[in-house]
Amino acid sequence: MHLRALRPFPRPLLSSKRFVSSTTVQRAATATASAANDLVEDDIASSAQQQKFASETIANNAFKANPLNGTRPIYLDMQATTPTDPRVLDKMLQFYTGLYGNPHSNTHSYGWETDKEIESARKRVADLIGADPKEIIFTSGATESNNMAIKGVPRFYQKTKKHIITVKTEHKCILDSARHLQDEGFDVTYLSVNSDGLIDLEQLEKAIRKDTCLVSVMAVNNEIGVVQPIEEIGKICRKHKVFFHSDCAQAVGKIPLDVNKMNIDLMSISSHKIYGPKGIGAIYVRRRPRVRLDPIITGGGQERGLRSGTLAPPLVTGFGEACRLIKEDMDYDQAHIKRLSKRLMDGLLSIEHTQLNGSKVHRYPGCVNVSFAYIEGESLLMALKDIALSSGSACTSASLEPSYVLHALGADDALAHSSIRFGIGRFTTEEEIDYVIKAIHERVEFLRELSPLWEMVKEGIDLDTIEWSGH
Ligand SMILES: Cc1ncc(COP(=O)(O)O)c(C=O)c1O
Repeated sequence: MHLRALRPFPRPLLSSKRFVSSTTVQRAATATASAANDLVEDDIASSAQQQKFASETIANNAFKANPLNGTRPIYLDMQATTPTDPRVLDKMLQFYTGLYGNPHSNTHSYGWETDKEIESARKRVADLIGADPKEIIFTSGATESNNMAIKGVPRFYQKTKKHIITVKTEHKCILDSARHLQDEGFDVTYLSVNSDGLIDLEQLEKAIRKDTCLVSVMAVNNEIGVVQPIEEIGKICRKHKVFFHSDCAQAVGKIPLDVNKMNIDLMSISSHKIYGPKGIGAIYVRRRPRVRLDPIITGGGQERGLRSGTLAPPLVTGFGEACRLIKEDMDYDQAHIKRLSKRLMDGLLSIEHTQLNGSKVHRYPGCVNVSFAYIEGESLLMALKDIALSSGSACTSASLEPSYVLHALGADDALAHSSIRFGIGRFTTEEEIDYVIKAIHERVEFLRELSPLWEMVKEGIDLDTIEWSGH
């Protein structure tokens, strides 16, 4: 066994800012423990010391200011991105040094050795979703995969089919791709959702037409964590012989997914949502019955001609390793995230006039979206500089527009403006959750004390009965 297996925490990461929690260190240590058998005792002792040092360093940096690097907030924005697992980085590093061959060079060993690793990563991605490796096409991430599916499939079948169906609460990259299609003369149906964020299956079936070629419904919503009934949607699509695409950027590795059981024909996957590197992802494209699509990027014909360009071996292999780890750790991760999620929800919802957004049942526990009435979400975020959070999806939170997802659920502007998303992940600790609950209690109380509306509520005035005068 390679010595590096026991040293998954490269120095620069340890000595830099607060990066991973002490749980990370303990868990990675557990994962690599079996490698210890192959090592001499000295190595084990020094490795154990190194890990002890790592745990202490990281724990010390968790809540204290570090004079060299500054303090970093607690990270609870896992839907925006997840920290790269040190075990993933360990896998990637060799492709920046020794294994630098172009995987598409087929005339020498440099190419062959890299290609072998690429194919092994492809198998790891496929294994996570029950697919055949030949059905996995590497892309730059879920945005590109979604563009390929939404634009590529209708463009290929446009002679006979000009209609697609999607949902109002999809990620911006789906909605924007659909708008581009409309500009090209395609017809798009945007399904509404119920107040719990779920689509109505009858409405979906009614929306399917003779010229519908694609239905696209995400599995887990990135803002509210609602899980759509993917298996039922797959059945309806198969019955009507319509291709089914699912944006699974927030679902892969978090909930069980099987492309065959669920009749999914195309699936978008992102590496950086599962503790892998950024800038890499994949699209699953079914081979039987075969799905055809017009490629967006053309050139050397790599990736079955669907996505030309030289693959990035460090990213691809890191992504493959992230898939392997999340499959292996799924039960452990899910139990950990579920427990912390319950703790967080109990803590937050004990504050009066708060509500959990989205279905209480059909949800991924690692995404908790809560509205704090009589408070502006943006003000709360400003008052929570010690916690990295988002008031919506990363791409919309730059604007002060209230969330279109919460609007689609029927939330009014005030409620949508008062919502915060809490993202829990593999490396989140109980200590962090307790800190967050306490901080939110204090700051919500502080901000409400400043609010004239809150004063009226406390006096028992029903705000809905007030006629506000405009000037
Ligand atoms: C549901 C969903 N789809 C697509 C994306 C885009 O993924 P990527 O960053 O890999 O392009 C995201 C990321 O925020 C997402 O949450």
